[in-house]
Amino acid sequence: MLTPHLSIPLDRDSEEPIYRQLIRHVRSQIESGTLPAGTRLPASRDLARQLNISRISVVNAYAELRAEGYLSAHAGRGTFVSGGRETAATAVPTPVNGSARLNGHTDVIGNTYPDRSLRELMRMARRPGVINFSTGAPPSEFFPVGHLREAINSVLDRDGSEALAYEVPEGYAPLRASVRDYVSALGIQCSADNVLITGGTQQAIDLVVQAILSEGDLLVTETPTYVGMIDIARTRRVRVYGLGMDDDGLRLDMLENVILEHHPRLIYVMPSFQNPTGRIMPLHRRRQLLNLAHEYRVPILEDGVYHEFRFEGEAYPPLKALDEHGIVIHASGFTKNLLPGLRIGYLISDGVHHERLVRVKQAADISTPGLNQRALHWMLEHGVLAAQMERNIRELRRRRDIALAAARRYLPPGSKWEKPLGGLYLWVELPKSGPTVAELYIQAVQTGVAYALGNLFYSNGSGSYHMRINFGAQKPADIEEGFKRLGRAWRELACDYPEIEKSPLL
Ligand SMILES: Cc1ncc(COP(=O)(O)O)c(C=O)c1O
Repeated sequence: MLTPHLSIPLDRDSEEPIYRQLIRHVRSQIESGTLPAGTRLPASRDLARQLNISRISVVNAYAELRAEGYLSAHAGRGTFVSGGRETAATAVPTPVNGSARLNGHTDVIGNTYPDRSLRELMRMARRPGVINFSTGAPPSEFFPVGHLREAINSVLDRDGSEALAYEVPEGYAPLRASVRDYVSALGIQCSADNVLITGGTQQAIDLVVQAILSEGDLLVTETPTYVGMIDIARTRRVRVYGLGMDDDGLRLDMLENVILEHHPRLIYVMPSFQNPTGRIMPLHRRRQLLNLAHEYRVPILEDGVYHEFRFEGEAYPPLKALDEHGIVIHASGFTKNLLPGLRIGYLISDGVHHERLVRVKQAADISTPGLNQRALHWMLEHGVLAAQMERNIRELRRRRDIALAAARRYLPPGSKWEKPLGGLYLWVELPKSGPTVAELYIQAVQTGVAYALGNLFYSNGSGSYHMRINFGAQKPADIEEGFKRLGRAWRELACDYPEIEKSPLL
């Protein structure tokens, strides 16, 4: 039975979000018998057009009514009024409030940033039973808890209350020396005086933005880029120029024009295993980037947090290792490779940059907690990181391969992804004939899987069909199951998209 036209009197001035009004009206029409069992509801796109509301409102409303048992979806045929109200089998997530909020907003300085409601969506990922591919976390089952306990006890026995006093802003001197040794193994030759210990890589990046950029200045990033950098740019009121990438990373053929026309004050790049794409910038492009930056005197902030997470392929030196002019500031941390919760990162920089960064760091938080720094120093000296990294890489490569096989098996035809040679993430593009990743999200969480929405990684609101999957943080069985649920959620929703050709998956 097909509904030719649903009569839904929406009140656009009401405090009640549109999708909630829609749920209320459809529910009451089902309960009153106006919409009898078996009635086929219009496809979300058609109803959105008919009511002049956004499709995501309809998708949210249908998802909630399905979870409540009022509606059911039949792959390839559409959404129908159920025979009788059934108890929902899964927990019902609260859909995002309103529709316009999903489209992002323009901030005071002209960039469109991912909207708050995307973050509200992301919070659903933490529900119990959901396989959460959305985080930026490394595998927690490998955290060296025992070593940390031993490290803290040893440090307290050795240093007593000194370990709990204010630390100097540059960081605990022996740790700075360990960082110098550590980065020298990656090819970065520096002195401990060039090292500044920070509260994770995130603070390292934020300090550089504060030290170099003023409100309204322009920052060039890869696009898509690390969502944390977009957040920093927004809070520091800095404009972002998202420059496209090709397989080898940042498009340098376009960079020169951008520099000449827009005068950026900083270039932010992740040359190795870029987040979210997983791409790696080859040596010749690293050199070209340095030459260009030097020629136009634009400093580079290199984020090297995934540098060592290489599964295969050639190893390239960090930009800082190739930097002859002190133009690169290198940011990284012991968060992805050891313990995110210790919150220890570092900056390697030269001359005036370093002095200014120390002042900004002191103004920000006086110092990074001394006990954490000393415990980390103890672990580095006792070889904990080296052992941890070896195990991490082996296991992450295995998980990457499981994710690739599961993606091939379960993702809808027309989906695209690249094989990451390192890092934690798979960057997936869904077919554009189906739901966007935001439209799919509630259905996915109800099916028990969550991912990071592609829009979050763009400063201009693109990325509607992209998702970032963190395969690194999940155990192998959950990776397989997570992709299976993702495929199922997509097929459930895709039945509402008449433009999708009937594929064997539907
Ligand atoms: C590229 C990149 N830089 C920096 C960070 C922040 O890391 P940290 O935990 O060291 O602050 C992350 C975390 O996801 C990241 O992906």
